[in-house]
Amino acid sequence: MRQAMVNRLREEGLINCDSVAAAMRAVPRHDFAPGEPLEKVYRTDTTLVPKIDAQGRQTSVVSASHIQAIQLELAEVRPGMNVLEIGSGGYNAALMAEIVGPTGSVTTVDIDADVVHRARAGLHRAGYEQVNVVLADAEHGVAQYAPYNRIIVTVGAWDIPPAWLDQLTPDGRIVVPLRFAGITRLIAFDRTPGSPVLTAGNYRLGSFVPMQGDGAASEQLIPVTPDVGLRLDQNSALTFDVPALRKALHTKPVESWSGAPFDMPDELELYLLTSGPELPMLHAAQAAVEQGVVNPTVRNGTPALVRGGSFAYRIKRENPQTASGYETGVIAHGPEAEQVAGELLAMICTWADCYYRRGAAHITYHPNTADTSGLIGWHTTKRHGALAVAWP
Ligand SMILES: C[S@@+](CC[C@H](N)C(=O)[O-])C[C@H]1O[C@@H](n2cnc3c(N)ncnc32)[C@H](O)[C@@H]1O
Repeated sequence: MRQAMVNRLREEGLINCDSVAAAMRAVPRHDFAPGEPLEKVYRTDTTLVPKIDAQGRQTSVVSASHIQAIQLELAEVRPGMNVLEIGSGGYNAALMAEIVGPTGSVTTVDIDADVVHRARAGLHRAGYEQVNVVLADAEHGVAQYAPYNRIIVTVGAWDIPPAWLDQLTPDGRIVVPLRFAGITRLIAFDRTPGSPVLTAGNYRLGSFVPMQGDGAASEQLIPVTPDVGLRLDQNSALTFDVPALRKALHTKPVESWSGAPFDMPDELELYLLTSGPELPMLHAAQAAVEQGVVNPTVRNGTPALVRGGSFAYRIKRENPQTASGYETGVIAHGPEAEQVAGELLAMICTWADCYYRRGAAHITYHPNTADTSGLIGWHTTKRHGALAVAWP
C-alpha cells in the first residue's frame, strides 16, 4: 500500500525527488493513525486522526500525504540537515528523519499536549525515537536545537515571527502556509543574500488548520444574507454597503465571457487578489448554491469585485475551443453589473494574456528589520513584517 501511494503521488507529479519517494516507501504511515482503516491511511488525499475543538473546528490532523509530499519537495531536505517541523503528528517528522539520515536531526513542536503524546507514541512504534518532540508555542521557535537548515510549518500561519528567522541558518529555507488577501499559499522562502528580505522560490496551493497561541489570527466575516458572506483578513479596512449588496444578490445577473481558458484557478485567484483593488472573498453555504442565489464556484470562496451595491465574480463554462476545455467568465449583480463585470473581465484577460502559467507571481517577505519604505506594488502589512506580491 505504501508503494501504491508513492506511485500515485509520482503519477500526479507531486513527487519528483527520489529521497521523498524512498522516505514515503519506508515509513509505516499507519503507525501514526491507530484505529484508522488502512485503505484510508494510504489514500493520498485524506487527513487522519482529526482533533475537533468545542466549537466543532479541526485543530489538528495528520495531513494528507499529497500535501506532505508537496511540502517535502518544496523544502528540498537533504541528508545531514537539521530540520524543525512546526505542528506535529509524527508521520511527517519520521519522513524527514528518513531523509536527513543518521547525520541529520529533526525536531517537531506542537502546542497541544495530546498531539505531542500521540506523535511520540507513533514515532516510538515506527522506530524514529531520535526525533525531538517538543511541547511549546512555536511562535517562539525551538531555540534549544537551533539553528535549522529548514523550518517546515504545517499549520496555517498569519505571519513569520522573528524567532523563526533568528533560528534559521544563513542559507536556510522556510516552507510556510501563509495567509494573506483572504487565501493561503504554501510558500518556500529563501533568504536574499545581503538583505533581511525573504524571496519565494516557489509556491503552491495548500490549506492547513489555523495557528493557535501567540501567533493566532482572526478573520472578518461580513454576512450579506445568512447563507452568503464576504470574508476579509483581520488587517483589512474595507467596508461594504451590505443592504445594497443583499438587494443586488436577488437581481437578475449579467454574464460575460472572456474566451480565455479556465485553468489554474489558484493562480488566477492569486492574481485577482494581489494585482489591483482589494477584493474580499465571497463565500456561500450549499443552500445558497442549491437555491440558485450564487454560482457553485462560490462554495469554496472566490474573489469578488465589489463596487457600491454591485459585485462580480468569476465563473466557468464548458468550451472545447479553449486549451483546457473550459472558459472563464464573470457573473455580476446590481445596478452597475455591466461595469463591474467589465472591470473584472479585463483583469482576467490581463492574467490570461501575461501570466497564464504556474509561479508567475514574485512573492517577498520584508521583516520589520528591513526598510519597507520603498515597497511599491501590492503588499500587506502584518505584525512582524510585510508581504509583497509583484507581477513582473
Ligand atoms: C496539520 S497539524 C500537523 C500535522 C503534522 N505535521 C503531520 O504529521 O502531518 C497542525 C498542528 O499544528 C499545531 N499547532 C497549532 N498552533 C500551534 C503553535 N502555535 N505552535 C505549535 N503547534 C501549533 C496543532 O496543534 C496541530 O497539531
